[in-house]
Amino acid sequence: MTTVVHDEEQLLRARLALASEVEARCVVLSSRVVEAFLRVPRHPFVPGFYREEDGVHRPVRAGEAGWLREVYADRVLVTEVEGVHAESAGAEGVVGAPTSSSTLPSLMADMLDALDVRPGDRVLEVGTGTGYNAALLCELAGAAEVTTVDRTGPLVAVARTRLHEAGFEPTVIRADGVEGYPAGGPYDRIIATCGVRRIPRAWLEQCAPDGLIVAPVLGAIARLTKLPNGRAAGRFLARPAGFMPLRSGGEAGTETPAPTRSRTTATGPRVLDDPGFSFWADLHLAPTVTRHGHTLHDVADGSVARSEGPATVALGGPRDLWHTVEAARQSWLAHHRPRREWLTVEAGPEAQSVRYTAPAGTTVRWVL
Ligand SMILES: C[S@@+](CC[C@H](N)C(=O)[O-])C[C@H]1O[C@@H](n2cnc3c(N)ncnc32)[C@H](O)[C@@H]1O
Repeated sequence: MTTVVHDEEQLLRARLALASEVEARCVVLSSRVVEAFLRVPRHPFVPGFYREEDGVHRPVRAGEAGWLREVYADRVLVTEVEGVHAESAGAEGVVGAPTSSSTLPSLMADMLDALDVRPGDRVLEVGTGTGYNAALLCELAGAAEVTTVDRTGPLVAVARTRLHEAGFEPTVIRADGVEGYPAGGPYDRIIATCGVRRIPRAWLEQCAPDGLIVAPVLGAIARLTKLPNGRAAGRFLARPAGFMPLRSGGEAGTETPAPTRSRTTATGPRVLDDPGFSFWADLHLAPTVTRHGHTLHDVADGSVARSEGPATVALGGPRDLWHTVEAARQSWLAHHRPRREWLTVEAGPEAQSVRYTAPAGTTVRWVL
């Protein structure tokens, strides 16, 4: 392995390039967010990450060829796979699902922009990961105001050290983020960097009146304002966002059963690759249905549907899950292809829903 040494000048140029790329790729951006990207270096938080090839995640370490270029590119950097951190992985790599990563910088920027953090705002982040986003939050709010939680002990310990070395001392806690962190609340701003289907009750309770919550909900980023009645309401950001899910408690993944029959369909798999439609489709799926790419699985009754080409869908279990996708597609086309940023979201401790109101006044509503 050849070790490449990077000097300060090179690191600064790399940071400037990332800040310009972030600015160019974001929808709307406050100059304070771009400034934070200029001031906070990314490389101390990702001395190791994985590169994936043919399903195998192989570690790349600081100093290796290409490391710095990838660190300061607008890319997701996977740092943990199946609980194995890139910094402790063997050269043979790891097979499985990513469990932690440093989010796409331009997406982080759009979320931070939506969060509208002001100096002195009390902030909770759920999903510390590498600590890079927490460092940006410290830059925006002041480190004394920032609390960040992650469910994984080793990640929390490493992130705390790296934040300290970068000159930031936020509160870094190992906790299940679904409970928030009541001791640090109420918060003016809550941001999650792992995905949920519903806004957890604790976040609603710990958000101060008029405070903001920015969180990935299904495949989109919801931005909600806390209302005086204790509920929160808002909209979705325009850009699509796939986040790893918030994992709570000791839940184990359920294996997807193999399909046992097939039928023809006029709705092929590519519809779910269209980010304009996939959010609408996900809203139609029952909360017990998980979707990975073109495969749907209802963990409640074992039904499964996997699109196997432009005109065939393979099915298993008691229900035909692909019918839901077909019905969603019909409704999306009938409503003239609504965009996710036209939908509103309302969240209370009990009921939560997403709504689309057409210009003519008709409303479609989904319970989350
Ligand atoms: C995309 S990564 C976060 C990226 C991070 N903000 C950064 O800047 O590097 C998602 C993180 O969510 C964490 N996570 C998943 N479920 C969680 C839970 N229930 N509570 C807290 N953190 C959780 C994972 O351990 C993972 O580190």
